[in-house]
Amino acid sequence: MIYQKINEHLGKDIYPFHTPGHKRNPDYVVGNLYNMDLTEISGLDNLHNPKGAIAKTQELLAKIYHADESFILVNGSSCGIIAAICAVCGENETIIMPRNSHISAFHGLVFSGAKPIYYYPKIKPEGYFCAVEPFAIEKMIRNNPSAKAVLAVSPTYEGFVSDIKKILEICCKYEKILIVDEAHGAHFPFYEGFPKSASHCGADIVINSLHKTLPTMTQSAVLHVNGKTMDRQRLKYFLGSVQTTSPSYIFMGVVDEALRRLYNNKSLFDNYLNLLRAARKNLTNNMNIRLINTDDPGKLLFALPDKIQGGEVEEILMKEYKIALEMVRPHYVLALSSVADRAFGFARLTKGIGDLDTRINRAVPMGNGIYTDAYDFAKTEMVCTPREATFSFASETVRVSDSIGRVSAEFINEYPPGVPLLVPGERIHEAAALRMCRIKIQQLKVISCRSR
Ligand SMILES: Cc1ncc(COP(=O)(O)O)c(C=O)c1O
Repeated sequence: MIYQKINEHLGKDIYPFHTPGHKRNPDYVVGNLYNMDLTEISGLDNLHNPKGAIAKTQELLAKIYHADESFILVNGSSCGIIAAICAVCGENETIIMPRNSHISAFHGLVFSGAKPIYYYPKIKPEGYFCAVEPFAIEKMIRNNPSAKAVLAVSPTYEGFVSDIKKILEICCKYEKILIVDEAHGAHFPFYEGFPKSASHCGADIVINSLHKTLPTMTQSAVLHVNGKTMDRQRLKYFLGSVQTTSPSYIFMGVVDEALRRLYNNKSLFDNYLNLLRAARKNLTNNMNIRLINTDDPGKLLFALPDKIQGGEVEEILMKEYKIALEMVRPHYVLALSSVADRAFGFARLTKGIGDLDTRINRAVPMGNGIYTDAYDFAKTEMVCTPREATFSFASETVRVSDSIGRVSAEFINEYPPGVPLLVPGERIHEAAALRMCRIKIQQLKVISCRSR
């Protein structure tokens, strides 16, 4: 069934403005996948103790990202984030992190037993998060001096970049380890026009999803380490524990060849940036669908007027223009571009968005911020740690309407962007219950009354 569905989709000739970053572009195909599907036989090295070919590729990655040491990940950034949190925080130790982190960071809390201290980046009326201000991090550290580490998500899913250099200075001043979830910024070191990568800034641990914005296979990612504050042996143990003992040579081989080609051939990025600049220029001519200025120009983020919702835009672009988007929210949509995008793809997107823009009644006022899809995470109240709630056996399943005031025993996740609406251990308030109804969740596991 899965295979049939994949082929049905491919038969429709839909252009991907979503991950993976290879965009099925034949110019970026590396080798024959079945032939490359090998294992740790003599000469092919071992991901868990690399001394040969894999060690060499990791050295190349460290060079590209200006890291002291880099580790290939075959289970996405998710496993790198979990390992990083486990490596720096033990049971009941604290980590300062944004409440809008990706779910993998919360899994890191469950695995390690660490306690989160949340900060809350601002939210735009359309519903996407802003970068975090360094002074907000400094304030959090001053108020929580015993915290072991700080986690920053930069860029955000939508392409907003925090001042990592400044945040790192603050973390150094207070002797905190800085972990940067840079899942969406793997392409940064390849072109001067992109923001400086967090690893190049010197952050202690940085995690990149190579597959999101570079021409590699889904699941391929990398973790970088800088400086001497980290216990690398401990990190290596956790990396080993969250990754398979049978890592895919397809993933690793494609990472090696694709990144080597990009690194040695800067003109590939020149071509991409030329196409991107032209597309951005055309897309800014629209009257109603507003192209937002993102720090990462590769993210084409469109704010929608209140006359049309993201779901309709997605449907029209898919059916009439054969375009698939990366993320669709009620008041904005995101098209993700990469070095593997082609001129005809950008042309389709420009035409599709341009036509839609003229179809929207111009007499209707533009989105003016009176509506909001922003969910106020600051209202969440943590009653016990995510680990305590997850491992609590005294739980019961209730209807969402009966859950208000109870404590969640499970994650309720919205994907994309993969930021949990509820984390185990959080009290369920009315807004969370309403949101669950909107995303069609009918029941959830809560901690039993007898235990609380
Ligand atoms: C901010 C952020 N961090 C981490 C991840 C996890 O990345 P991966 O899918 O490579 O595991 C995602 C995935 O969407 C993400 O949006």
